[in-house]
Amino acid sequence: MTMKLSTDPSAATLLPIAKKEGIATVWDRHRAMQPQCGFGQLGVCCRICWKGPCRIDPFGDGPQRGICGADADTIVARNVIRMIAAGAAGHSEHGRHVALALQGVAEGRLPAYQIRDEAKLRAVAAKLGICTEGQDVPAIAAAVAKATLEDFQNQDHDAPCNWIEATLTKKRLERLQALHVLPHNIDAVITQIMGRTLVGCDADPVNLILGGIKGALADFDGMCLATELSDALFGSPTPVVTAANLGVIKPDAVNIAVHGHNPLLSEVVCEVAGQMDEEARKAGAKDGINIVGICCTGNEVMVRHGIPLAANYLSQELALVTGAVDAMVVDVQCIMPSVSEIGACFHTAVITTMAENKIPGATHVDFKEEAALESARRIVATAIEAYKRRDPRRVNIPDVKQTAIVGFGVESVVGALATLNAADPLQPLIENIANGNIRGIALFAGCNSTQVAQDSSFVTMAKKLAANNVLMLATGCGAGSFAKHGLMTQEATLEYAGESLKGVMTAIGTSAGLNGPLPLVLHMGSCVDNSRAVQVAVAVADKLGVDLDQLPLVASAPEAMSEKAVAIGTWSVALGIPTHLGTMPQVTGSAKVTELLTQTAKDLLGGYFLVELDPNLAADKLLEVIEERRKGLGI
Ligand code: SF4
Ligand code: FE2
Repeated sequence: MTMKLSTDPSAATLLPIAKKEGIATVWDRHRAMQPQCGFGQLGVCCRICWKGPCRIDPFGDGPQRGICGADADTIVARNVIRMIAAGAAGHSEHGRHVALALQGVAEGRLPAYQIRDEAKLRAVAAKLGICTEGQDVPAIAAAVAKATLEDFQNQDHDAPCNWIEATLTKKRLERLQALHVLPHNIDAVITQIMGRTLVGCDADPVNLILGGIKGALADFDGMCLATELSDALFGSPTPVVTAANLGVIKPDAVNIAVHGHNPLLSEVVCEVAGQMDEEARKAGAKDGINIVGICCTGNEVMVRHGIPLAANYLSQELALVTGAVDAMVVDVQCIMPSVSEIGACFHTAVITTMAENKIPGATHVDFKEEAALESARRIVATAIEAYKRRDPRRVNIPDVKQTAIVGFGVESVVGALATLNAADPLQPLIENIANGNIRGIALFAGCNSTQVAQDSSFVTMAKKLAANNVLMLATGCGAGSFAKHGLMTQEATLEYAGESLKGVMTAIGTSAGLNGPLPLVLHMGSCVDNSRAVQVAVAVADKLGVDLDQLPLVASAPEAMSEKAVAIGTWSVALGIPTHLGTMPQVTGSAKVTELLTQTAKDLLGGYFLVELDPNLAADKLLEVIEERRKGLGI
């Protein structure tokens, strides 16, 4: 294989070390897996029952139906909506955890947590239509938790989930309602997908995909509530200067990497680490305890507390290869099972924390919100013990680190705009879109994949869109890519933004007290925080009296791989947003499903999938879409 594996400079340092030490990484396993199964890539392999597996011959010579009679359209549609169900389950389970924590705080049962952002809690209550007059904070928190948990319990099929109803434009809700795809209950919708895709159930690809869209909108609901309630509990992000890439690991500190997606534990680990710093120093770590982030747990603590980000998805193993991570604490999602084996090659304690997410070979410290402080102390103590076993001769921390200005939640974006127009904060943004200084807005989301040289598609696309005056937002591992490659800096704005975009970013940044422009790409948080970008878009659409599918707004997941990305991409389409995928979705074995997602969706929803593997061409195509939307608005 001649393809470059990663464009992250720390990989260039650490991959040869891994090789020398005989440590296999994700890229070695990718190579060993070639050639990958063509039937799987097309989505035409079915393993739904034990008469199978069945696979449809894409060339038309062999079987065109599975043993039960399912054809390629049915099989592909079933497979892809099961992926959506899995993604929605992951996000909404995360959301449920946060909602239950809020309920626990309201009832005074969780001493480790508090409402750190009362204003946000009140804003959320108002949004959900909860009367807060004369109510104290615990009562408001209880009411918000109750309304949120209804989204997991409501049995009235005609009553949409509370959060989605409170979040979208009226026109969008009507359009989705007319298609019968508004979810009424997150759990029920996920269960329906599993039920209808059993052998011998729904075989109509259009009906299946509509069920998948409903599941994706349930995913959106779960993400909205996870983000907003996390802000209420842990604080809404505000701009903060921090750093990214493996150079943030310190040679003379007890390094604890927090990895996964759920902020409930990592928040407490950060707090407890401060209290136990002296113990680390006593153990010989003259720089005390250094918390670093990986993947979206990393993004959560980065945007809220300025904790540096060590790695995004594909670099998680390399963090261990530095030989200087004393504990890797993992919660849920995107954790490679290989980390325990690599940790064992060093002194690293890999610690799982969730009862339903364990890894053979890892240490398990069961995390319960009721005993969060105790669990966090155990974890930090385990890290300090591991530090004592660290072999300094095997430490290789790449000298690779970029500054990153992060922490652009809805409130901080609106806050920055308010410094230009306090009475009407969105006006400067709308004006600059209307006059063409900003051509459009792109939300970069999604993962890293071994199908793409790590980070390369994100960076290539962002530079091109920036030069063409597109304002960019990012979440998840996309945000990690930009942070690691120095695109979340003021210097990047000065270097890569087109003249008119640079002018706007400088005006906003200067007026907001940043002494210069906003960073080129605005870090909005973890992958559940994609809902933040939607909130900004909805506010703009409402102000203009249009719907989301009229805005010059696009989304892109250039290195997508997770089932969560399938769910996110699908709700993005359902909300009316043209959505680019830079990796091949496993649906092309069905012409019908491919057409539904890339063409018919445009008529039904306004949004659609746009697949383009070449990042340069992808950027061109998104620019065309943006111009088409501008034309539609007459601007
Ligand atoms: Fe084959 Fe049908 Fe069973 Fe799928 S559900 S494995 S197509 S028999
Ligand atoms: Fe993520």
